[in-house]
Amino acid sequence: MNISLLKELTEAHGVPGQEDAIRAIVYRELKDICEISTDYLGNVICRKAPTDGTSNPKKLMLAAHMDEIGFVVKYVDDKGFLRIHPVGGWDPRMMAAQRVIVHTSEGPRHGLMMLGTKPKHMLDAAEAAKAPKHEDYFIDAGLSGEEAKKLVKIGDQVTMDRGFQQMGDLFTCKAMDDRVAVFVMIEAMKAAKSHSVEILGVATVQEEIGLRGATAAGSGLKPDICVAIDITLANDFPGIPAEFSVTKLGDGTAIKFMDSSLICHPKVVSHFRDLAEKNGIKYQVELLPAGGTDAGGVQRLNGGVPSFTLSIPTRYVHTVNETVHKDDVQASIDVLARYIEDAHNGDYTYAIPGR
Ligand code: CO
Ligand code: ZN
Repeated sequence: MNISLLKELTEAHGVPGQEDAIRAIVYRELKDICEISTDYLGNVICRKAPTDGTSNPKKLMLAAHMDEIGFVVKYVDDKGFLRIHPVGGWDPRMMAAQRVIVHTSEGPRHGLMMLGTKPKHMLDAAEAAKAPKHEDYFIDAGLSGEEAKKLVKIGDQVTMDRGFQQMGDLFTCKAMDDRVAVFVMIEAMKAAKSHSVEILGVATVQEEIGLRGATAAGSGLKPDICVAIDITLANDFPGIPAEFSVTKLGDGTAIKFMDSSLICHPKVVSHFRDLAEKNGIKYQVELLPAGGTDAGGVQRLNGGVPSFTLSIPTRYVHTVNETVHKDDVQASIDVLARYIEDAHNGDYTYAIPGR
């Protein structure tokens, strides 16, 4: 496995609407095997013709989102402290005392994300029990008021500063959501040996604020099938009852039944299950009660698109410690590559019983 590419992707920075650094990596990785274009939202579309010269091929759209949850600067005060606006779902409880990077037009700056609160030993019980809100946080970037006002602009992105680590069979970093899926998409497109569909591998933008990039790409590309790749919850850690675990780390790639944005097309679900079984690829079936994926943005376009999401089980989602298992990542690459090779055989029409 190309771990250095996964490290590079997860350590790269890009909040919704500011995905430039990831566009560069996707382009570099796929330019030799695909024709690459962008659209007006910033999606990167990697088009790969059928390897066997099939004419009028079915169009298979893959979608993995490049954006990560983060912040943009909304205000710079006279002392040089920055105030931020969240873009994507940061839980305020998970933001305390993090190191961040403020991405200015003159380059990245280190910063500290802190709460405007007295130290713990000075708080009374009621103050200590209060949950923080986004607006309680500020960024100290070590700048005077004058320096900060000159250097930092409204809308500059602020991202978490957390590097990639391997711990045994686990990989951890910020932005595993959804760069591990960008990685899976790239590696599966490289691994697929032959295919009769036209692949439209889309590295999408702005998923975290409402599936915006995928929806635009899907309406423009008019795919015959859409497969999104995203992380899902692996709540298999202390404090969560088993029925809320969704998936378990190390139990294989996750074949999604549904999430809050779509019910996956049942025949695409079966197609993936059959391929996993036929090829001895470990999988688990996933039902995510809350949370959406790019497939949900594409399914309802153009009169309806058979859509599905392949998921990578992930612990500690939407924290700086998003964590995946090596074998689940590999199983996801394997089953997606086998699907690309076999997608032309999928018949996803609905018959009317009795007719
Ligand atoms: Co997310
Ligand atoms: Zn995601």
